[in-house]
Amino acid sequence: MSFKKSILCIGAGYVGGPTMAMIAYKCPQYKVTVVDISSSRIDAWNSDNLPIYEPGLYEIVKTVRGKNLFFNVDIEEEIIKADTIFVSVNTPTKTFGTGAGMAADLQYWEKTARKIRECATSNKIIIEKSTLPVKTALAMERILTSQNSSIRFDVLSNPEFLAEGTAIKDLEFPDRVLIGSRETPEGISARDELVQIYLNWVPKQKIITSNIWSSELSKLVSNAFLAQRISSINSISALCEKTEADITEVSKAVGMDMRIGSKFLNASIGFGGSCFKKDILNLVYLCEQYGLSEVASYWHGVVKINEYQKERFVLNMLKYMFNTLAGKKISLLGFSFKADTGDIRESPAIFIAKRLAEEKVELVISDPKALQNAKNELCNLDITVSFIEDPYEACINSDAIAVMTEWSVYRALDYEKIYKDMAKPAFIFDGRNILDHKKLFEIGFNVFPIGKPSMSHL
Ligand code: UDX
Repeated sequence: MSFKKSILCIGAGYVGGPTMAMIAYKCPQYKVTVVDISSSRIDAWNSDNLPIYEPGLYEIVKTVRGKNLFFNVDIEEEIIKADTIFVSVNTPTKTFGTGAGMAADLQYWEKTARKIRECATSNKIIIEKSTLPVKTALAMERILTSQNSSIRFDVLSNPEFLAEGTAIKDLEFPDRVLIGSRETPEGISARDELVQIYLNWVPKQKIITSNIWSSELSKLVSNAFLAQRISSINSISALCEKTEADITEVSKAVGMDMRIGSKFLNASIGFGGSCFKKDILNLVYLCEQYGLSEVASYWHGVVKINEYQKERFVLNMLKYMFNTLAGKKISLLGFSFKADTGDIRESPAIFIAKRLAEEKVELVISDPKALQNAKNELCNLDITVSFIEDPYEACINSDAIAVMTEWSVYRALDYEKIYKDMAKPAFIFDGRNILDHKKLFEIGFNVFPIGKPSMSHL
């Protein structure tokens, strides 16, 4: 069968895999191929056990795989065949040299650019999907054109805004699709080709175009704004705890102002996930590089409040449990960075577990999907740690429960039964404000939510 277009995606991760599955699903007239250097990852994409879990993803992959969606490791071969190439390789925070701990590590991205230049035998449109520092497209163009060949490369920026756990919904009904291009006739014509792909299912008014640098920067800024809202409400939660104001009431009152809006105003133990911290640090580093130290320190504050919130949670546990946690059994309910995923990257539960280990507690970790990841993460702690999926069992003989993740199963537990099996006095620290605090107090618990008056029998 002949296809109207041959699309390639380099990088079969959380973004590349689901995005290409959606394009293939919505556009049967295009051939979509995903390549990766990891053959085990590609094998998983070709199996019934996909390398990532996203509701609805498996059904889509099953429908189109082998028809117009293909996964393989023949990177060179596929570059030759493709006319449109998405680059979706990882850009983690640099762990070495200049900018370590702040800047984006661009080595995988640059190797990919060189590989494309090396293999291409015809004109290509190259699309940045990875989150990158602003002006990266310029470096991409320079690498691609440094051989003076007659092959033309047009580089576009098309950042991905999907969130984990809702990737398929976010891809199918995006709030917006952003495409940045050079404002030259060639740049605009490349941009129009990409617009045509999205027009297969995204309404025209949701596809916005901009210059290429605005597009690159918008991705970093979107994540920074979302994280900033969480840090803003979390900072106020600390003030609420001192003043008997209630953060849920404050966030409701503030969020009902249409100009502010109600989303992303839930106080918590802090944000996690692979993007927020990495992207803000990247933004901070960029600002510093351009000599904008006030701007850098403003955004750095978002990350600092997030660290403060996690530490504050541990210090509250210590304070309310008579200033000593040593030898006490503490059960963490949840370990993933948010509900409905097994992903623990940057999960606040990691920091809290490690801090509690410093206080020499005995730790029990419970989670419906992330237990294996938790085991891998905590295997070197020099305290007793058990991993128990059943929350009832996990809380037996515990001195305290700390809710780390807003899994809905934790709302519906029989806390009377849990209370009976715990050591007394029994403490509960609700790091997500998802439980019925009054009821827990009536059962006999000493209850410590985030940003709300505590309820103690002591
Ligand atoms: C985020 C962005 O939402 C997405 O657009 C971008 O493409 C990638 O980064 P993700 O990391 O999957 O997505 O998770 P998200 O749902 O944004 O949550 C991030 C963290 O913030 C989680 O730890 C979550 O529990 C926390 N959070 C969220 C809060 O603490 N309070 C809130 O009100 C909302």
